[in-house]
Amino acid sequence: MEKIIINGGKTLSGSIQIGGAKNSVVALIPAALLAEGKTVISNVPNITDRDALFNIVKALGVKVSKEDTIVNIDSTNIKNVEISEELSKKLRASYYFMGVLLAKYKHVEMYFPGGCNIGARPIDLHLKGFEAMGVKVSHDEETHKYILDAKKLKGAKISLDFASVGATINIMFAATMAEGTTVIENAAKETEIINIADFLNAMGADITGAGTSTIKINGVKKLHSASISVIPDRIEAGTYLIIGALVGDNLKVCGVNPDHITAVLNKFKDMGIDYKVEGNIITISKAKIINPINITTLVYPGFPTDLGQPMSVLLTQADGTSYFEETIWENRMQHVEYLNKMGANIELKDNSHAVINGPSPLHGASINATDLRGGAALVVAGLAADGQTIISNIDYILRGYENLIIKLNNVGADIQIINVDE
Ligand code: UD1
Repeated sequence: MEKIIINGGKTLSGSIQIGGAKNSVVALIPAALLAEGKTVISNVPNITDRDALFNIVKALGVKVSKEDTIVNIDSTNIKNVEISEELSKKLRASYYFMGVLLAKYKHVEMYFPGGCNIGARPIDLHLKGFEAMGVKVSHDEETHKYILDAKKLKGAKISLDFASVGATINIMFAATMAEGTTVIENAAKETEIINIADFLNAMGADITGAGTSTIKINGVKKLHSASISVIPDRIEAGTYLIIGALVGDNLKVCGVNPDHITAVLNKFKDMGIDYKVEGNIITISKAKIINPINITTLVYPGFPTDLGQPMSVLLTQADGTSYFEETIWENRMQHVEYLNKMGANIELKDNSHAVINGPSPLHGASINATDLRGGAALVVAGLAADGQTIISNIDYILRGYENLIIKLNNVGADIQIINVDE
């Protein structure tokens, strides 16, 4: 079993380059299958979720090759076969093959998607959207196999009960080649959705309004070859900025789009943390005093749920009591137990409310990653702690942070992955 070992308390300086956004690329790779022929996706991050998607794409008879961060996908010989349970369960984003294969073949067979255990994670909004477009959904309660089938895919007016990122993108996929116009109301506005709509439009789709709460898709007959560059990962950027605020000395986080993390930078201002934005580089240093603040996670452009857990580590060093409320997922406080083991003073009111009393010196401990962003929070804590931290279940972390160990060692951290016999 692999574990991350961190000898904490080192000051980090130098530059960290941010990779392409995980939540964009996990939709762009399935989207490539919509094109007849070849597509090129550049700035693809080196994360294990990427590889899980390559395995699904290959199982569908699609050719994939990669050179550094450039991925070529050729769907000329695509076959619409069942996506096995094993492949479907490897990651949450496997659900994007539903929208893509519906658009292309009006028929999909796959299993309930996997992903981190951060909540119930239903897909009812995706399915309701498909049904409004004329899709018949069959679900086997025992095997969790889904068969989605439509005689015709028809444009529809779909108002989402919640601005779900996944449902917005999936319905957008299905609508690209449907007959007529689809309007998604209360659509999610995350920046990744614009990146994906740009890719689809480059293929010849007719989508307007991505990035706003109303997206309109006029169905077209077919989609053609295109290329796209993945936008920078705002969550990876936010995580390194939080690390910089804890242990940085002029740490430069490069390749960021500052407009995508306004909510995070505003919180830094409230906390009294100095940072400097120059184009797409943000320079940040360890803050002398951190003001306590309140954080409530919200849909974009609010404070991102994916940065709530890393931010909670920074709040353990604030001078007073902070409040952290998670509103998107039911199960995003699993890391708190481990932060407290490291010396933090966090009271959990329930699964979504935490009171963080600071400042508390952190010390190394042996701890477990329970999900991707919770795991990242433990890495952040290990870097700030005195002594050695050993983190197990690191697969969660590697799903979403490319070259984590290399990037951190390059700026002066003492962090490595070791193989341990169980
Ligand atoms: C995406 C991101 C994830 C991020 C989340 C919220 C990807 C691959 N993952 O996840 O990192 O934390 O957005 O910003 O892009 N919901 C339903 N029914 C549905 C769909 C969602 O009830 O059919 C609920 C979920 O349980 C959750 C909320 O809506 O409480 C948000 O989910 P959603 O925005 O869909 O998240 P994902 O797309 O899965």
